[in-house]
Amino acid sequence: MKRYWLFLWLTPFFFAESGCQGPVHEKTPDKKWWKEAVVYQIYPRSFKDSDGDGIGDLKGIISKLDYIKSLGVDVVWLNPIYSSPNDDNGYDVSDYRNIMQDFGTMADFDSLINGMHRRGIKLVMDLVVNHSSDEHEWFKQSRSSRTNRYRNYYHWWNAERGKPPSRYSLFDVNHDAWRYDSVTNAYYLHYFSRKQPDLNWENPDLRKEVYGIMKFWADKGIDGFRLDAFQFAAKDTSFPAFPEGYEKKFQLYYAMGPHLHDYLKEMNHEVLSRYDVMGVAEGAGNSFEDAHDLVDADRNELNMAYAFDGVDIAKPEGYSLLHFKEVFSRWDSAFAVNGWLSLFLSNHDQARLVSRFGNDSPEFREPSAKMLATFLMTMRGTPYYYNGDELGMTNIRFTKITDYRDMSIKNEYQHQKDIHADTLQFLERAKFASRDNGRTPFQWDGGPNAGFTTGIPWIPVNPNYMYINAALEEKNPNSCLNYFRKLVLFRKNNPVLVYGKYEMLDKDNPQVYAYTREMEGKKILVLLNFSAKNTRADVKVSLADPKPLLSNYSENPTEVSGHSGFALRPYEATIFQLQ
Ligand code: NOJ
Repeated sequence: MKRYWLFLWLTPFFFAESGCQGPVHEKTPDKKWWKEAVVYQIYPRSFKDSDGDGIGDLKGIISKLDYIKSLGVDVVWLNPIYSSPNDDNGYDVSDYRNIMQDFGTMADFDSLINGMHRRGIKLVMDLVVNHSSDEHEWFKQSRSSRTNRYRNYYHWWNAERGKPPSRYSLFDVNHDAWRYDSVTNAYYLHYFSRKQPDLNWENPDLRKEVYGIMKFWADKGIDGFRLDAFQFAAKDTSFPAFPEGYEKKFQLYYAMGPHLHDYLKEMNHEVLSRYDVMGVAEGAGNSFEDAHDLVDADRNELNMAYAFDGVDIAKPEGYSLLHFKEVFSRWDSAFAVNGWLSLFLSNHDQARLVSRFGNDSPEFREPSAKMLATFLMTMRGTPYYYNGDELGMTNIRFTKITDYRDMSIKNEYQHQKDIHADTLQFLERAKFASRDNGRTPFQWDGGPNAGFTTGIPWIPVNPNYMYINAALEEKNPNSCLNYFRKLVLFRKNNPVLVYGKYEMLDKDNPQVYAYTREMEGKKILVLLNFSAKNTRADVKVSLADPKPLLSNYSENPTEVSGHSGFALRPYEATIFQLQ
């Protein structure tokens, strides 16, 4: 049975052990607004519904701008809001210059961006141009005849040449990325679903169209683009055969194809360099070198990338903190001087942060959610925080396939059935990993549907909204929400957390992640207990007068053995100033 079924595209991108070590003398990286930002990601479909149709919308977000401002975040990343038939919840765009009907109108968008900018919040939008929807006018034209002027906007393989060499589709029921189309007796390529045909970046006309679209949004005042799946955009269009079994490591074959950097340089020249916008890539290639090539300032391509090997560590059976520490330390050292990274442990493609990396039992949900937030807010890089995680929202754990809304899991379930695999086991794993866990409606209050909608929500609300919701947490000074606010403010007031040198302490401790951040004479110690047990951190730093700055427990940890060891309570997070 295939073991690599669950959202394969989220699996680690097989980063080469580059042996890249942190330089001995680190200079402080150049200062930029997007390095200092805390990004709050909003999944519009599930955030707030204003008109009772059960689907979140732009007016809903507008009604919550003061809440977003109150978090202290400076950038919102909005998942796609463009016209779309919603095969993949907006990641299948049918008109890049229009707003999805479910979400509202362009006038709503203008009010949204004005409302954000008035509050000092920047807006980053998804740019989904590895593929479009099959309902995009370009594709309708392209499929209509072999000589249509849009034919080469996509990848076609004429059937008289025989079957094209195998390509793996992440979302297709059969995982076959070539779909036969009888209209012109040819196959088209789709790395994602059948309704998401891949665009042909070799075609300069297509590239010009994309830059035009980017300018359209940049002229409207947006502050950045998150390039969806872009590392897959460039292909070897001779479509050579890949070795048997390539699909288990398809990223090695798909990522960073020929001319990708040429396209990015062109995009930078044509659009990004002409505005004060940031560009962030989903995926960081197959090695540190790839990641640097995407983001190093002197290359004039993008500003940040996000790699998956941190987020992919969590497994239903648990994960090793030693592994976690090793991965984050390795990435930090590789980007200590050049380039810049995004920090995240959850997003709309993941299950909930506290359910995957923490402990969502009633006893430990709050401390572990706060501890994870402390981690993300004290590492080097730009933290991305997914809506609802600031409340400590948890996985819903659907039990039946009919509960799910995500096309990718429905298709995979069908695939598992077709190959006579154990579908019960599949559903069990999905309770932990499915993307729909992270897409249930935002829990605003204890009223009907958690205050998300007055209608029927497009996806069920997690029944725990009665006791996990923003209204309750507002009132509690020790809630996850209020702790998150404190943390964001703390990061803002301590640039050492953005730019400072990172050093791991107590490296072999399997329960504690301890590190310092240091810059311009200021040194901060972060102690994180990743376990449900009382434990001890042996940090071996000399603390003349350790000053506790922030903790997820109301009392400071008890020091043991002079000034070098600390007793930590379950999921305790404590920050000290050392200098
Ligand atoms: C990555 C997006 O984050 C995910 O939600 C989407 O399904 C795929 N790209 C395809 O666009």
